[in-house]
Amino acid sequence: MDPKSEAFKVVLLMPDREATIEVGAEEHIWDAAFSADIQLPALCHQGYCLTCAGRLENGGEADQKDSLSYFPEDREAGFVLLCTGKPRSDLRIRTHQAPKMREHRKQKGLLAPYSWSEGSI
Ligand code: FES
Repeated sequence: MDPKSEAFKVVLLMPDREATIEVGAEEHIWDAAFSADIQLPALCHQGYCLTCAGRLENGGEADQKDSLSYFPEDREAGFVLLCTGKPRSDLRIRTHQAPKMREHRKQKGLLAPYSWSEGSI
């Protein structure tokens, strides 16, 4: 089987509910959610602004090569950018993590766009 035609089970843990969707290996998680009528936060859709950030629960692998900015430290901390992230395993993702990912980036001295919206520059 062509590995690119593979699909993974992705559980989205949202503030008010959880949902399980299928995401193809070459599909961005945000797009798959949108196709399933789940509107997640997003702004740039380029893996830059962090608006769509999520965090992996129980580990797993996401491919973030399509993201404009994604750092090894993000991966180590379990953060994913759903707009440009493709699954490489079944995943459980806590959504709506933009403030936490911005805080993480600031603590590591990394690029953290729009951090001022959380009250500090
Ligand atoms: S929407 Fe901007 S990083 Fe995903």
